Amino acid sequence: MKSSKTALPLPEKLPRHIAFIMDGNGRWAKKRLLPRKAGHRAGVKVMRNIVDECFTLGIPYVTVYAFSTENHNRPQEEIDALFALLKEYFSEFFDDLMKKNIRVLTIGDLSYFPNDLQEDIRTAVLKSAQNTRGTFSIALNYGGRDDILQAVNQAVKGGQTVTTEEFQKFLYTADLPDPDAIVRTGGEKRISNFLLYQCAYSELFFTDTLWPDFDKKELLRIISEYGARDRRYGKVKS
Ligand code: IPE
Ligand code: IPE
Ligand code: MG
Repeated sequence: MKSSKTALPLPEKLPRHIAFIMDGNGRWAKKRLLPRKAGHRAGVKVMRNIVDECFTLGIPYVTVYAFSTENHNRPQEEIDALFALLKEYFSEFFDDLMKKNIRVLTIGDLSYFPNDLQEDIRTAVLKSAQNTRGTFSIALNYGGRDDILQAVNQAVKGGQTVTTEEFQKFLYTADLPDPDAIVRTGGEKRISNFLLYQCAYSELFFTDTLWPDFDKKELLRIISEYGARDRRYGKVKS
């Protein structure tokens, strides 16, 4: 057995920002002959546990991809089920994050969501704005192309060219550092329009595990692999 020293990731090797593409809920449900929404329900529970685990480990920024701009194209029944789940869990989850001194942010175009849900989200964001232990951000109706385009449109209004630093302030992720690690569950090896600008130097992790089966053990394995990777940013190895 490994000693606890080698089994746990070293704090300085932890990602500062970890982001999850939570994929595989539908297939998880299908395997169990359940409706897809049962997979989403199971997925929300896992999301809460994994997010909590990340903050407990000391990762300050945690982002989850919950609804993409392309997910609009799903059957209305599934979209309604996702909205209902968000509504059901949002208040409870955010109360929990509030107690844990975690700030809540959303990225994406919220105007697509029902008014009452938008209201719940805005309230949580406002109420938690001064929290200092960590930042949880949830991507809702988020698309990387949409993010870049809305940022460009804001930038051109100024009538002048902008620097990289100025441009980043127009992105939905203005308050977040770039993700150090992006984890995709569910077996697909693609980004699916997530954080396209921000992922330039992210370390990518793909696992076949379906999101509702993702657990702490696998999270720790990924974090420990992250710690072993050599991030060169185009330079030569130091
Ligand atoms: C991810 O799971 C959750 C959302 C996109 C909302 P899926 O619903 O895409 O599950 P699969 O990929 O069909 O298994
Ligand atoms: C990515 O999963 C979006 C979210 C997890 C919210 P999808 O299931 O929508 O992605 P594709 O269709 O497999 O690329
Ligand atoms: Mg999917």
